[in-house]
Amino acid sequence: MSDGLLGAAILSAAELEAGLLAWREAVLGDPQARWDSRRDLAYWQHAAEHFEEYRQPIPHTIAAVQAQLRPAWSLLDVGAGTGRFTRPLAPFVRQITALDYSADMLAVLVAAGLPAHVRVWQRDFHAPDIPPHDAVLAAWALYRSPDLRADVERLWGLARHLLLVLEDNGLPSPHVAWKRRANPAPRLPYPRTALIAGILHERAQVSVLEIREQRVEEYPSLEALLARHKVDASQSGEFLAYLSPYLAQSGAGVRYTFEAVNTLVVAQR
Ligand SMILES: C[S@@+](CC[C@H](N)C(=O)[O-])C[C@H]1O[C@@H](n2cnc3c(N)ncnc32)[C@H](O)[C@@H]1O
Repeated sequence: MSDGLLGAAILSAAELEAGLLAWREAVLGDPQARWDSRRDLAYWQHAAEHFEEYRQPIPHTIAAVQAQLRPAWSLLDVGAGTGRFTRPLAPFVRQITALDYSADMLAVLVAAGLPAHVRVWQRDFHAPDIPPHDAVLAAWALYRSPDLRADVERLWGLARHLLLVLEDNGLPSPHVAWKRRANPAPRLPYPRTALIAGILHERAQVSVLEIREQRVEEYPSLEALLARHKVDASQSGEFLAYLSPYLAQSGAGVRYTFEAVNTLVVAQR
């Protein structure tokens, strides 16, 4: 984990405005229109059950978040989803509120069984009745915010001591990059976390941590890898050539390894 404090990397006011505008255009230009809560909730209704199955473990990221918390604190996990953070962090704080507006995501969280000090709350984080907590975590929860500044300020307003915002570095994994090769997603001029840090730095002490996670997928055969990534036979040669730097033989099968970089904005009062 590298601990890069902003310092030189803080965006100027003009860069921040340009970055926020580009962010807004990217959110509103989403072909799936997930900024629309009805479309987003329909997505989660479909995806909730398999959400964690399709995600690799993120032990270093969870450890980095945990290291920021204090045992006496309450924690608000905004956009808690199926509880990827709520569950492992629960032993390290006095109380957690897992807040999410998707009943389907929360149903998966509740089904896993929770200790008594975890409160599950179905709410939009814009709702006016959310009480402040000692720490607030928003992990991959701002993807549909056209007004990023307003939403980051909203979360900061809910945090008595600490706001943690987690995003990835926006670079697709190799198989996703291959799928998008003809139509790559528009790149933001600045990383998402630089925008979030830029919004917060005048009111908070802000640092940005970079956390690397190794992703490993094991398959009994190349056919199984192709099937998992839904690549049809006519494109398999091209796909495997693109992925070859990341593939290795593993016993009788194949191992696909790549790195993901997550970034954690830590804002303290
Ligand atoms: C990508 S998932 C991340 C879940 C979890 N934080 C994790 O990292 O595994 C985003 C979650 O944010 C929730 N969400 C999106 N907009 C929200 C809003 N305005 N209020 C509350 N939850 C929201 C979605 O329902 C979804 O469960």
